[in-house]
Amino acid sequence: MSPPSTTVVTADASPGAVVFDVRGVAKAFGPRVLLQQADLQVLRGETLAIIGESGSGKSVFLKMLAALVPLDEGEVLYKGERLADMDQSALDRLHREVGYVFQNDALFDSMTVCENIGYALKEHTKQSDEQIRERALVCLDMVNLRRTAIDDFPSGLSGGMRKRVALARAIAIEPEVILYDEPTQGLDPQNITNIAAMIEELQRTLHVTSVVVTHDMRTAFGVSNRIAMLHETRFAYIDTPERLMHSTEGPVREFIDDAMDELHEMFDEHGAGSGSGEGGSATHTMPMTPVPRPEPR
Ligand SMILES: Nc1ncnc2c1ncn2[C@@H]1O[C@H](COP(=O)(O)OP(=O)(O)OP(=O)(O)O)[C@@H](O)[C@H]1O
Ligand SMILES: [Mg+2]
Repeated sequence: MSPPSTTVVTADASPGAVVFDVRGVAKAFGPRVLLQQADLQVLRGETLAIIGESGSGKSVFLKMLAALVPLDEGEVLYKGERLADMDQSALDRLHREVGYVFQNDALFDSMTVCENIGYALKEHTKQSDEQIRERALVCLDMVNLRRTAIDDFPSGLSGGMRKRVALARAIAIEPEVILYDEPTQGLDPQNITNIAAMIEELQRTLHVTSVVVTHDMRTAFGVSNRIAMLHETRFAYIDTPERLMHSTEGPVREFIDDAMDELHEMFDEHGAGSGSGEGGSATHTMPMTPVPRPEPR
């Protein structure tokens, strides 16, 4: 029997360990209520996966964490500071510390890979174009994408490569937190494996705190320390992957079983582990260049 639905597994729940604290949040678009009394904590150093039905509001929620969408009610605190109270300089700091991988990659098609990766550095730092290019090359190495792609335009890249550029853009700022929205959506099984391995590697090497919104159960269960399921406007089930996998709660069971069926179908279609992935080597043990933590700001 799984624990009560509201259980929050907080091994270290001291105030300093909470990166995002979401309290009683509500959000609706017209009559469409997405969130109501939603509570969630994101803890320093963890990888938290968010799952839930399509259209339930996962992307909107992730955007709220990054202060890209306003709340109707409740509050979101980032390191103890209410987003609603942040002035422009605090918001700039938030956007320097929190990397974002958008659901559809959201690359600027009129900009090169280098300009895409360096966008936030250009906006938020005084780095020269040369320094930004150097950083972009290091980030390409980190996401296992060939350096020669640096002057390409996104439209010429495959889906897997675009995802990697989106990842490289998120890590270019040396973030403390990375918010991933469906980082493996639309990829074949081999690329899903590669990207999931990359998320784990970034977590291990850079010690970032990660929130991963995903439909893909392999990614959710493979990379996370905790999983939160958005169900009927709130995070109704929050637990470790092990416990959630064996949950007997109806909505959890149904969601996981359906998602696992889809996963099996996809594997049958493509063949497990087939192909060599795109844009990088066939292996997902990518070479990682450790990036020093940014100085405390
Ligand atoms: N800016 C907006 N204005 C009006 N409605 C919106 C807006 N943004 C999102 N919505 C609606 O809110 C609902 C939830 O959207 P959201 O993209 O967060 O879902 P999701 O859980 O991420 O879905 P998926 O799993 O398909 O990515 C959708 O019905 C969407 O059409
Ligand atoms: Mg979404």
